[in-house]
Amino acid sequence: MDVAELNFAHCKTYLVTDGREALLVDPVRERLPTYEARLAEGGLRLVGVVETHTHADHLMIGRAGKARLGAPVFMHRASPSPLVDVHVDEGDRIAVGSGALSVLHTPGHTPDSISLVGEGFVLTGDTLLIGGSGRTDFAGGDPGAQYDAITQKLFALPDETVVYPGHDYRGRTSSTIGEEKRTNQRLAGVDRKAYIERMNNLGLPVPERIQEVLQVNQSGCEAEEVPFPPLADLGAVLQRSPQEVAALLRSDPPPLVVDVREPEEFVGELGHVEGALLVPMDALVGRLPRLAEWVDRPVVVVCRAGARSRSAAALLARAGFRHVYNLEGGMVAWQAAGLPVQH
Ligand SMILES: [Fe+2]
Repeated sequence: MDVAELNFAHCKTYLVTDGREALLVDPVRERLPTYEARLAEGGLRLVGVVETHTHADHLMIGRAGKARLGAPVFMHRASPSPLVDVHVDEGDRIAVGSGALSVLHTPGHTPDSISLVGEGFVLTGDTLLIGGSGRTDFAGGDPGAQYDAITQKLFALPDETVVYPGHDYRGRTSSTIGEEKRTNQRLAGVDRKAYIERMNNLGLPVPERIQEVLQVNQSGCEAEEVPFPPLADLGAVLQRSPQEVAALLRSDPPPLVVDVREPEEFVGELGHVEGALLVPMDALVGRLPRLAEWVDRPVVVVCRAGARSRSAAALLARAGFRHVYNLEGGMVAWQAAGLPVQH
């Protein structure tokens, strides 16, 4: 099994090959032609695209790129995008050639962050970086979860395991688990409480493009298809837990449940809430006139993981809907809470 970094930039994309088969990890949309050339040059067959998490700093391949590459997309179960073909979780294996990458769920940077363990190496995404770790101050970030994932899962790998991070800002390409245990300034000799304190006070600026990039990556829709709301509107969305939404549904009159996923997700593995109205994200704005009777009544917006629906809830609020709630954690959380679904 072989690992090559393809971008030679701060933001890293890896090609993992075994024999004639390849996995592309964290591809950047505008570099797609380079990846295709590399695959053709090596006579390689792409057997999968793996995203270590929902990225906020670059556009993921999107619907068109996915069609061009013609390989299934693998992401963690908590990933919001409708473009994922195979949802993976802790312990799952992603085959390539005669080998496989094993999945570790390493949340903290995002809820859907995974690390991929191969023969003698680990792709750590934005969880463990060389001498650092991925920021945990975006929506869904959790420094405590990140500390646990790094210290209990990644640091449990053999010391000689080579670490390939999702980013490096100083031109470094790899490290090892042993080296990071000893020298990583954020982690070496730092306890959980101190780590959380430190991560909550990094004071990093919010990237300028975050809202146009992140919402595109979360929704699988393009910015020209959906007028994505600004960050301030997203922050104002009222979140409701699955239990709270279940209670609202028992009230009289119950709220309207708007499910903004794709039709195949609506009837897929996670099912949907009884009575939910399916309005896919890219059709929402066009359907607003038909939802007008709900302007003064409660509306709960639902999707897979709660990200697309947050954008949709903000759009509804901006359009004048006065009582809009987001199902926090989406159908993944609803199902985990053991609440009833229909298929
Ligand atoms: Fe990231």
